[in-house]
Amino acid sequence: MTSRANGRHLEALVARMTLDEKIGQLTMRTANMAVTGPVGAGEYLDGVRAGRIGSMLNLWGADWVRKAQVTAVEQSRLGIPLFFGFDVVHGHRTTFPIPLGEAAAFDPGLWQRTARAAAVEAAADGLSLTFAPMLDVARDARWGRIAESPGEDTWLATRFAEAKVHGFQGADLTAPDAVAATPKHLAGYGAVLAGREYAPVDMSARTLREVYLPPFRVAVAAGAAAIMPAFTDIAGLPMTANRPLLHDTVRGEWGFDGVFISDYNAIAELIHHGVAGDLAEAAALALNAGIDIDMMSDAYPKGLSTALARGLTDIATMDAAVLRVLRFKQRLGLFDDPVARGTDLAPATMAAHRALAREAARKAVVLLTNRNAVLPLAARMGRIALVGPLADARTEMPGPWRGAGAPDEAVSILDGLRAARPDADIRHAAGAAIDGGDDDEGRIAEAVALARDADIAILCLGEAAAMSGEAASRAAPGLPGRQGALADAIFVLGKPTVLILSCGRPLIATDAIARADATLVTWFLGSEAGHAVAEILIGAASPTGRLPVSWPAALGQVPIFHARRPTGRPPRAEDHYSSKYLDVPVAPLFPFGHGLSYGDVTYRALRATPETVERDSTVAVTVELSNDGDRAAEETVLLFVHDPVASLSRPLLELKGAVKVAVPAGGAARAALSLDMADLAFIGLDGAPRVEAGVYEILVGPSADEATLLRATITVM
Ligand code: NOJ
Repeated sequence: MTSRANGRHLEALVARMTLDEKIGQLTMRTANMAVTGPVGAGEYLDGVRAGRIGSMLNLWGADWVRKAQVTAVEQSRLGIPLFFGFDVVHGHRTTFPIPLGEAAAFDPGLWQRTARAAAVEAAADGLSLTFAPMLDVARDARWGRIAESPGEDTWLATRFAEAKVHGFQGADLTAPDAVAATPKHLAGYGAVLAGREYAPVDMSARTLREVYLPPFRVAVAAGAAAIMPAFTDIAGLPMTANRPLLHDTVRGEWGFDGVFISDYNAIAELIHHGVAGDLAEAAALALNAGIDIDMMSDAYPKGLSTALARGLTDIATMDAAVLRVLRFKQRLGLFDDPVARGTDLAPATMAAHRALAREAARKAVVLLTNRNAVLPLAARMGRIALVGPLADARTEMPGPWRGAGAPDEAVSILDGLRAARPDADIRHAAGAAIDGGDDDEGRIAEAVALARDADIAILCLGEAAAMSGEAASRAAPGLPGRQGALADAIFVLGKPTVLILSCGRPLIATDAIARADATLVTWFLGSEAGHAVAEILIGAASPTGRLPVSWPAALGQVPIFHARRPTGRPPRAEDHYSSKYLDVPVAPLFPFGHGLSYGDVTYRALRATPETVERDSTVAVTVELSNDGDRAAEETVLLFVHDPVASLSRPLLELKGAVKVAVPAGGAARAALSLDMADLAFIGLDGAPRVEAGVYEILVGPSADEATLLRATITVM
């Protein structure tokens, strides 16, 4: 495609710009159609006309976008188009499961398809960029943003990164249905101190590079056109001012040629971080670090010209940022057709997205326990008491980032079950408010009366959507309000009871899970939540989701994750001087990867060949699966490695691969994976990646519980 704004034109354009127009290109302003940060903005069309705004967020809808775009192109002096960004995190009009839930599908193809559908809907609403995927490795259930993340594991996050970037951006970023991806939040945000939102971060350079950076590196390799640095610092250096990371590593080492967009108001917040005295210093720190666009702070608009006058930064640095922004707009095709995005979508497209939402929701559900095979529900179900505040909670089902979805377009669990089994006798009582209400005691009594007369109780508990996501850390992430009391009152009835947890994090609900006959984790499943849950409950589908996070048994265990290093005093219950707690176990309640199906699959005959291998080579890994159950199952087979003796202590388990395998009822199947020796690399003491010679363990199985893993060894020459 020929472009009206080729490289030289863009440089000539920069040369024609006034200082204010340059600053304008580096300035992003909200239109407040959604509120996603602490500071709002007023009228924006005047700013667009004057060239003081180069991009917008929180403005969508073809007509609204077109109006702003036409103002920029036809009424501003240089006619430079705007771009339009929005948090299309897990869907735009159609809502897919929260990323933590989607991660449970362990399915890159699915992740890519949902991102594609979200991009199609977003672009139809005029948007040209999404602030997604969120790629923060998250290991602390207190942190509300764990909901937005692909979970605790680096390898899984790299697969998620690649799928999402490809899905959002498609094959051609100029296409009218493509949006730029913005991997965020670079980096380490998931490790905030004590799980408290926006809190400081400290970690070793090795952990940063081995655990937190790889998903971003993969996103860059996949072609991500923008990146958002995190609000947070590491060891005193806020990411918004982190030149070594942004400029040297990401641009220099990784070759990132897109734009860095600050997080909301983050540049001005350098003052609160205590590294800038005023807006001019903040602006200079960010620009010098490589931040091209100031989202919603006054630092660039009000501080950059002073920074230049004081010599804190220079015009060449600013021009380079402006040129990157113009190139980015060119890459989006905006100079060629500024209003290409913003079209009606056919009803068939929306119907297909809805079907995809149901598939994604179904694949996100994790069956934690199923005692006495209480699930799936028997064909003759008898009377069902569907109780709990999340049973009939349509508006909660989309979860924390609902995009532009209509508030009550989602299907509740009650709606879904009634639609799946119109013949069934399903009675409902909320039983309590989600987070405590005045009449909770009366409501509990009402729910108990209902359940007493039923054959089975389905207890729908959990969080409100707004209790996870941004600014939603919880110091005690358990069942909120009086839900624990409601659960107790139902359990004492002694009925078969199924617990369904709607949540944006692993909830610490150890007692309720222990007492329930079956527990399903349904996260926030999006538009089709209720239908997907119903399919699993009645057995129209067998659960396939696997935990992308370790599920803590007790709050004191967090942060908890499988890829932990050993200690000199490994935990042993009988050994007083060993690494353990006196009051709770060391192991999580459920390990990473855990998730039951309605089948009964066993693993045997692990083979890793060749057993002796060169460092630039690959090992083929196979394992045989058999299903003794009477229902087909889809297994997610996990491949971990462990380097038992190395120059540095290495994690007990590191995930390096996963494959999904269908195992028919009463049948068998083989899972085949491959392991590149290059994937055994770690950052040595000298800071360089290395693959060490020696014996490695290959561990394969359904979860990170070592008791479930088969073991083989290979020797690397
Ligand atoms: C702040 C959040 O940290 C970020 O994830 C989001 O993209 C921006 N607000 C814009 O809404």
